[in-house]
Amino acid sequence: AVMREISGIDKMEERLRRKLGIQQVIIVAGNSDESPWVKSELGRACALCMKNSLQGKNIIAVTGGTTMATVAEMLTPDLGKDLLFVPGRGGIGEDVQNQANTICAKMAERTKSSHKVLYVPDQVSSETYHMMLKEPHIKEVLGLIKSASMVLHGVGDAMTMAQRRRTSAEDLRKIEERQAVGEAFGYYFNEAGEVVHKVRTVGLQLDDLVKTGHVLAVAGGASKEKAIRSYMKQAPKNTVLITDEGAATQLLQG
Ligand code: G3H
Repeated sequence: AVMREISGIDKMEERLRRKLGIQQVIIVAGNSDESPWVKSELGRACALCMKNSLQGKNIIAVTGGTTMATVAEMLTPDLGKDLLFVPGRGGIGEDVQNQANTICAKMAERTKSSHKVLYVPDQVSSETYHMMLKEPHIKEVLGLIKSASMVLHGVGDAMTMAQRRRTSAEDLRKIEERQAVGEAFGYYFNEAGEVVHKVRTVGLQLDDLVKTGHVLAVAGGASKEKAIRSYMKQAPKNTVLITDEGAATQLLQG
């Protein structure tokens, strides 16, 4: 705590919190674009924040990405055993290690708690998709997602995310044409914070976040400046942003 005061990080957190108009900002030292261990620090900060916010029984909805995968690595059994991790949204084209299903399994393993899987493939016809929604297992998981008391999610650069996922040429064009800069849980945002594209899948909707007690957004690296700024225009006020100095410095300047 003393180190944070001396380095002025606590003042930076408060300035950024006011600027973004959200509940809390937590900043870790460094820039995760340049130093990979900074991403681990983001994970550690998220784990600590979870520990301070959780009590008793909780359903935690989690999205995908490399940052969320790092959060999973940092969780420990002392977080509490009465936790149920559920994937926030169905498959959105990520490689298996970055998928919410995999990350939830890892989080449950690390905390000795439980998890659910949501098997919704990416490229299905609209007909198949609507049929899947009637599956009892899928319905059960969707119900759990809606009753989550905490959501953990990443925020990504729009083009980076669209290219990393198996996005169709048509959608790629749309994302580019509509000048998306940010991405979170399959929603793409332009600089004004408007949703310009949404991956067709089931689960968490942006509107659901307002009703969730704790929303932890974890994203760092100076390269995510525009992405974080755009998403924060839509983010619910109850959001806690866990970021690094690299991103925070840029966000405070713009
Ligand atoms: O869904 C993915 C996130 O928006 C960002 O992913 O943590 O790998 O940068 P990342």
